[in-house]
Amino acid sequence: MNIIETRDLRKSFKSRQGKDKSEVEAVKGVSMKVEKGEIFGFLGPNGAGKTTTLRMLSTLLPPTSGDAKVVGFDLQRESGKIRQHIGYVSQAGGTDQHSSARENLLLQAQLYGFDRKAADARANELIQALQLDTFADRSAKTYSGGQRRRLDVALGIVHKPELLFLDEPTTGLDPQSRAHLWEEVRKLRENGTTVFLTTHYLDEADALADRLAIMDGGKIVAEGTPNSLKQQIAGDVVTLGVIAQNGEKKRAFSLLQGQSYVREIHDGEEAFQLYVERGEETLPAILHLMDDAGLKVSKVSLARPTLDDVFLRQTGRSLRENSAN
Ligand SMILES: Nc1ncnc2c1ncn2[C@@H]1O[C@H](COP(=O)(O)OP(=O)(O)OP(=O)(O)O)[C@@H](O)[C@H]1O
Ligand SMILES: [Mg+2]
Repeated sequence: MNIIETRDLRKSFKSRQGKDKSEVEAVKGVSMKVEKGEIFGFLGPNGAGKTTTLRMLSTLLPPTSGDAKVVGFDLQRESGKIRQHIGYVSQAGGTDQHSSARENLLLQAQLYGFDRKAADARANELIQALQLDTFADRSAKTYSGGQRRRLDVALGIVHKPELLFLDEPTTGLDPQSRAHLWEEVRKLRENGTTVFLTTHYLDEADALADRLAIMDGGKIVAEGTPNSLKQQIAGDVVTLGVIAQNGEKKRAFSLLQGQSYVREIHDGEEAFQLYVERGEETLPAILHLMDDAGLKVSKVSLARPTLDDVFLRQTGRSLRENSAN
């Protein structure tokens, strides 16, 4: 069963500065399906349109055009019903910094209509579940990044939503706090919550998402399980840096392009990415080729395809180069 279905969802922002009117097309026609019970990832660089899509799906922003069904309800006509079934944790978080985790949770529960006793019980439950106990009663402004993000997630699930939207849940966290939060997200899935999260971390999308969509420039450029996406890039990836002087790079490019074992070649900023069959055999041949042509190689590596290669193939750019984390 699909918990989200969208058809050609679009969003344009009009900005008016003086008499000039300009329009930003942030989301340019997104059609996708998210299955109930899965962790769905939205991977893309800064400005791809991830947050805008998420805000539309969580009823915070009306679409310019297109349709969507979220938790069985129509996005345009039944947004009130959708809101009862979803949780949303924004990129910035929604913590009141001057209150403690417990106070934040109590307030949120009461906003959702829990009476004081039920709110107390729910706050306790969440403090245990997200392991907030050691800091639950001091002011949130004293929390580490990871502690604050866990509180953000707790605030998003106070009302036990079926579907939770998390916008960049681990951006800026250290590896240990990220791993910890991944565990919490997996636990949510185990308990039946569908999680839709955005990220610009390749490893996060790879490790955490059951399925993902790769977004760039307001459009979905690829969609599938991490493995199926990587398998589309059959073969291995050779990264080859050539010392580029006086057009040497161009010469190397056309030489490589002409080799039968090179299926595809991309000219990155610092190095070429070559998609080849049987990399371990092809690599020596490439090095010989460069050597015979008098071209100096500055670096070389061989790797199995990653989600970055998927992104690179679809967009001609590297996600790693794009997002200065
Ligand atoms: N309220 C707004 N008014 C005008 N332009 C906007 C508005 N909100 C977003 N945009 C533009 O829409 C595009 C997509 O933005 P969005 O925040 O959805 O990207 P994102 O993928 O979430 O990026 P990031 O990884 O940086 O969070 C950007 O060019 C952004 O500047
Ligand atoms: Mg964003």
